[in-house]
Amino acid sequence: MKNNKTLQNLHGNLHENLQIHVKEHYQKHPYPQYPIFSSIQPHHSFALNVRSIWSHFNNLKLKSEENINILLAGCGSFSPYPTSVANSKANIWALDLSKKNLDRARLHCMLHRKFNIKYIEGDLLEFDNFPLFFHFIDCYGVIHHIKEDKKALKNICNLLSEGGIARIMVYSTGARKKIESARRAFRVLKIDNLKNVKKIITKTKDKSKSKSKAQTKDSQFLALLKNNFEANFDSGIADMFLHPYVKTYSIDQLNDLLKECDLTPLKFIHHQALADTSKEIDRLRILEKNDNLFNNFILYVGRTSDQKKRMAAKTAEAEAEAAAYITLNPVIKKYLNLWSPFLTDLSNKFGKSMQLNYQHKSLLRYFRKNRRMAEVYRKFSKEKINQISSFLDALLLIKQ
Ligand SMILES: C[S@@+](CC[C@H](N)C(=O)[O-])C[C@H]1O[C@@H](n2cnc3c(N)ncnc32)[C@H](O)[C@@H]1O
Repeated sequence: MKNNKTLQNLHGNLHENLQIHVKEHYQKHPYPQYPIFSSIQPHHSFALNVRSIWSHFNNLKLKSEENINILLAGCGSFSPYPTSVANSKANIWALDLSKKNLDRARLHCMLHRKFNIKYIEGDLLEFDNFPLFFHFIDCYGVIHHIKEDKKALKNICNLLSEGGIARIMVYSTGARKKIESARRAFRVLKIDNLKNVKKIITKTKDKSKSKSKAQTKDSQFLALLKNNFEANFDSGIADMFLHPYVKTYSIDQLNDLLKECDLTPLKFIHHQALADTSKEIDRLRILEKNDNLFNNFILYVGRTSDQKKRMAAKTAEAEAEAAAYITLNPVIKKYLNLWSPFLTDLSNKFGKSMQLNYQHKSLLRYFRKNRRMAEVYRKFSKEKINQISSFLDALLLIKQ
């Protein structure tokens, strides 16, 4: 009995120590590192618009934005800003372990006049007693830095309102393989500060210029830097090579973990993801088996216990399809000018990457007014209907 208690205490202490190290890491290296005046064009935030996300997954409309609650779980130094751009009237809570990240996020938002955010310095693992529920929780790049990942995901599940949706990004074992071995090598060599890591990067780059001295190991390291956007800024380099705790997942490990936490994948949105979640899971398994998986997992999840209601709404929607409306995502509505440079290349950071040409925009413009499904089917060719489906899939259009 006594031994059991000692073990439990030891486990608790280990966990606390790890959280302290993770916190210290982000205090030292606030992440990400965007210039304070960098702004995003509002239409680029369209995939973070919670009313659109809600309609997309629940086949129901959220009435007013003022009542929408959003939690950014592990918000870092930037994400409150684009989330506020996309949901200017919603109530946003930005939670993070690191005060430095929160201060930076607050400053960024103040300078861009975004005031609908409350900032909370705290641990997602202890965030299980909040007095309200969230329609949307964004937990991007956080779970893999928490040893008690199950508890963190369970908290997310319990904090979701009925029908609530979370977006998560976790490292895949395939995509992180080389970075993880470099991170381990730095640890073994006891290289634990950014200055020394950067010295090694510079040295390797110099060596590679004189080809005779370059070795395979060096060119692999350089390729790693070239292929990772994080290698372009200091806190990104620190995140890659100096992070005190990183876990990576296979698709089955992630799927099992979600199941244990009463969460179900609703849609994967990483590069080349298939629209059907089961097919996407099969595709990821094959890529893993062939050592060919190079992306992390980005997905929307919902409470498994809400699935029945979701499916029922979907069936009802199919039955009432002819009566349903299609309309534009409100965030892009005012930017949809055929001749403007806006909305030609919608970046991948907040949703799917999309190239929009004149025809696409003109098709989208048709939906500035609500259009009945039945009318849409009557009016357009099969090819155009497929295009409209892909706009619905990318959240540029929403059904209500
Ligand atoms: C890689 S950053 C991602 C930041 C942001 N989500 C983004 O995508 O830009 C991870 C963030 O999670 C925060 N974090 C890590 N563990 C946490 C925990 N247990 N509770 C709250 N925040 C945590 C860190 O402080 C850090 O700001």
